[in-house]
Amino acid sequence: MRKLTNVLITGGAGFIGCNFIHVLLTKTPDFAGRVINIDALTYAGNAGSLSDIDAKFGGSRYFFERADITDRPAVEAIFKKYDIDTVIHFAAESHVDRSILGPEAFVKTNVLGTYTLLDVARVAWTVQREGGARMRDDVLFHHVSTDEVYGSLGSEGYFTETTQYDPRSPYSASKASSDHLAFAYHHTYGLPLTLSNCSNNYGPYQFPEKLIPLMILNMVEGKPLPVYGDGKYIRDWVFVEDHNAAVWSIVTRGRSGEKYNIGGENEWENIALLDKLIEIVASRKKMDPETIKATITHVKDRPGHDRRYAIDCSKLKRELDWSRSVTFELGLELTVDWYLGNDQWVKSVRSGEYRNWVEKNYGSR
Ligand code: NAD
Ligand code: TYD
Repeated sequence: MRKLTNVLITGGAGFIGCNFIHVLLTKTPDFAGRVINIDALTYAGNAGSLSDIDAKFGGSRYFFERADITDRPAVEAIFKKYDIDTVIHFAAESHVDRSILGPEAFVKTNVLGTYTLLDVARVAWTVQREGGARMRDDVLFHHVSTDEVYGSLGSEGYFTETTQYDPRSPYSASKASSDHLAFAYHHTYGLPLTLSNCSNNYGPYQFPEKLIPLMILNMVEGKPLPVYGDGKYIRDWVFVEDHNAAVWSIVTRGRSGEKYNIGGENEWENIALLDKLIEIVASRKKMDPETIKATITHVKDRPGHDRRYAIDCSKLKRELDWSRSVTFELGLELTVDWYLGNDQWVKSVRSGEYRNWVEKNYGSR
């Protein structure tokens, strides 16, 4: 098992990253090192999601650095200050709809930001030895990516690790570019590297512009439930802690130079998923499910909307013995309960920049 000492988490104030840091520092007995969280705190980043971690571990095992991953001098200084030996790279612009309205930020953060991290790591981890410069072999860069790089499936088949890339949205194209850069650094410079492509995550702390939290909150607030097109688009859903457990097994036991698909083996049409969510919210809030259903509104489809994603994650299960910890039913219940119990968090992430952006691009909905 690889020993991790000074772990740089990028995008740790976002959805998946903050869940990762919580589990790493509170529920991972195998880890005794330090976590350095670099995050620019864009609209999607909320340092408050880690206030409990900061109170308990701040200055000893947890360090927050507000910086942009495209800012090379800042990233270099962080590598030096904390003697980073592991990077787990979550930071990204992550929402497909935003990438359609404004692709530039996606290219900057996802492509240029990933390049900057890779190149700073390359330089920092190259040591002079007798006989010339050598890449350290006790370090690792893990790049977190998405199944969306593989494009769209018909009703049959699954994405495997060898499926050819065919990204369709500016978001997935920028993530595909970052995946290629990551492997280029491994092949060209010998950078120790692993990569994962995961399906749709759900769970606590997800920014409420993504399907599941948006729908939960709209139901509670009596707002329309905007279903894109016919609602028959299919996604494979995985609980965020299960995604993160897979990432942990890859960074500690995965083989350098390999990529691993992560998925929930849990495909749902959006409209069927919505029915399930309605059932849970209605029972928790003592509402009539039919009244909520009546608020479903089919709206204009997303341009270039990928029809179906489905992941074959047999490599991860076979090589790293990964399995899911929760059923979809339980995961959704945990998620609904979390959103119903965390009004303050919801208010704080919806305030400021996010509200202005939504109102400018969608009006108030
Ligand atoms: P998120 O949008 O919730 O969080 C992204 C975080 O990155 C935020 O805290 C934001 O402030 C930070 N960030 C953005 N640009 C930055 C920059 N230039 N410099 C520093 N920090 C910056 O995203 P998420 O859903 O947590 O996704 C994390 C990663 O997982 C992404 O790489 C995404 O592509 C990948 N992924 C997400 C899903 C999903 O369903 N959410 C599925 C598969 C893969
Ligand atoms: P989303 O959560 O944006 O994730 P991704 O686009 O990365 O898969 O969307 C999940 C699915 O839900 C996708 O098919 C688009 C659809 N969707 C809606 O129908 N309505 C919405 O308001 C949103 C945000 C998404």
